[in-house]
Amino acid sequence: MSEQSLTITDNRTGKTYSVPITDGTIRAMDLRQIKVDPEDFGLMSHDPGFNNTSSCRSAITYIDGEKGILRYRGYPIEQLAENSSYLETAYLILNGELPTRPELDAWVYEITHRTMVHENIKKLMDGFQYDAHPMGMLISTIAALSTFYPNARKIKDSAVRRLQISRLIAKMPTIAAYAYRKRMGLPYVYPDNTLSYTGNFLKMMFQMADSYQPHPVLERALDVLFILHADHEQNCGTNAMRSVSSSNVDPYSAMAGAAAALYGPLHGGANEQVLRMLQDIGSVDNVPEFITKVKNRETLLMGFGHRVYKNYDPRAAIVKKMAYEVFEVTGRNPLLDIALELERIALEDEYFIERKLYPNVDFYTGIIYQAMRFPVDMFPVLFAIPRTVGWLAQWEESREDKETSIARPRQIYTGYNERDFVPVEKRS
Ligand code: SDX
Repeated sequence: MSEQSLTITDNRTGKTYSVPITDGTIRAMDLRQIKVDPEDFGLMSHDPGFNNTSSCRSAITYIDGEKGILRYRGYPIEQLAENSSYLETAYLILNGELPTRPELDAWVYEITHRTMVHENIKKLMDGFQYDAHPMGMLISTIAALSTFYPNARKIKDSAVRRLQISRLIAKMPTIAAYAYRKRMGLPYVYPDNTLSYTGNFLKMMFQMADSYQPHPVLERALDVLFILHADHEQNCGTNAMRSVSSSNVDPYSAMAGAAAALYGPLHGGANEQVLRMLQDIGSVDNVPEFITKVKNRETLLMGFGHRVYKNYDPRAAIVKKMAYEVFEVTGRNPLLDIALELERIALEDEYFIERKLYPNVDFYTGIIYQAMRFPVDMFPVLFAIPRTVGWLAQWEESREDKETSIARPRQIYTGYNERDFVPVEKRS
């Protein structure tokens, strides 16, 4: 095999350097030897947004953006969506293997029996404005959990880490439901341990004065949606999780940062923006005019495009198929017709084709969530709940990775050179 290295010639000095290639990468620090003189700091790489920079090694999720492939621990997302449950997939993502039946039963018992939150969480929720966005409430409450579990600061203790991981996976649906009930002025509903992970969440969300049993089709649809959202390698939110936790802060504080990144409309907040976009378009007849606005760069086609997928997001295909199953129960969401027409036109239009813009996971999820009676501003919360296991599995992996060090990028300085202080009376 030819030598795995780069030979770099610095044309400023005529010097050549040999830089080893490992795993398809070069180490950025190997560029620092390239100097014009001994005083020179040496070369750095510059990559805002990390378009072409790996930040870690990970064995959790594999994506092939060109081929539209997504696998958790080697298992294709299509097979997990078809055959698994969210908690079983969460176990796989965390532990690297599918659980045996006793392992799965113990895991489900563990999560089910940690769904309660401290009663003071209600007081925290009550402090928010009546119209507070549920993501703002969720992010704040995740951070607040660090004050209820100060022992979580022992991040070098794997047993302590595992306990916080179970707590967060278990409590996210409860906190999310509390945020919704607070918004609606409804009493909080305690977890029901007789129900599944998603069944319990639906009950905590929607139970009114009568008894509540989740509809099995909706319970399963939400479980599949949670599987699809569980992890996605080094996305913006996960990068935040790894970056914030690299200072050795507790996982609650770090995950609040991850959830904050997810809240952004270019990331997990896109599902909410897709719904608002479809509502603004209003009818299929208005789609051509909207597409023109997108091509004139007046707006984005929310739910389209992806940093990694330059083909159809495999999750979007599954969600689109599932929409019809949900609508059998809830009735068809008329916004689907607008979404389908947007997709049809976009997939035929050169503007989108040349930019390799395809529907991503957020494009169809919103119309399902709306049909299931979730309010639009709950949609990013419905992304954060399942992504909790991804954030925490990546955190756990980083804690065990000897390459992990505090995230502290360099910069290209563009400011003033040294200058002397000017007393205020002498400033013009
Ligand atoms: C998620 O990373 C992950 O894995 C994220 C995620 C996960 O599971 O964690 O998959 C979840 O966040 C999905 C993405 C949800 N976001 C949206 O749907 C928002 C709309 N999409 C865009 O904002 C955009 O596509 C991004 C942010 C998703 C990706 O942006 P990139 O990779 O930085 O691409 P870019 O902005 O450089 O765009 C390349 C070109 C540009 O045109 P030119 O300047 O080259 O002419 O494509 C255009 C962009 O203007 N473009 C779009 C577009 N997305 C990109 N034009 C119109 N509508 C869009 N949605």
